[in-house]
Amino acid sequence: MNWIVRGESGAIAGYVQSTVEESGETNVAYVFCPAVRGQGIATAAVRRMLDIVVSEYQATVLFIVAETGNLPSLMLAERLGFTAAPPEVAARRQAGPNDVVLWLRVPFRAEA
Ligand SMILES: CC(C)(COP(=O)(O)OP(=O)(O)OC[C@H]1O[C@@H](n2cnc3c(N)ncnc32)[C@H](O)[C@@H]1OP(=O)(O)O)[C@@H](O)C(=O)NCCC(=O)NCCS
Repeated sequence: MNWIVRGESGAIAGYVQSTVEESGETNVAYVFCPAVRGQGIATAAVRRMLDIVVSEYQATVLFIVAETGNLPSLMLAERLGFTAAPPEVAARRQAGPNDVVLWLRVPFRAEA
């Protein structure tokens, strides 16, 4: 599932994406325009999406696969409570040699 995120003006700010597998394991991704970064918009949008996939689509474990050098993405994930997945869990996800696999297990409480 993909959601387009708009800013207050109505202009497209970016998109957020969730792939919910039958097991409940869910891959999460997000891309925002450079012009809107650094304001917390992406964090708020991803938090809202997580609430929706958990409450309406039975997501049980959320994953973010990010490049080790992608600090903005890693910081966003950390703000939402994601932590490094154990190696045996990470090995099951599609990740490259330069990726880190983060996870967040439900129930979680996304901080407001
Ligand atoms: C990853 C990505 C979405 C992060 O965007 P971002 O702008 O850093 O995220 P946010 O909009 O949540 O903004 C966070 C920043 O706003 C600040 N901020 C201000 N108000 C905030 C609020 N109310 N809540 C959270 N953060 C807030 C934070 O302190 C943070 O600043 P910092 O970067 O100096 O630490 C963006 O860099 C991007 O699109 N990258 C390209 C695509 C990509 O890499 N996607 C991820 C693939 S895994």
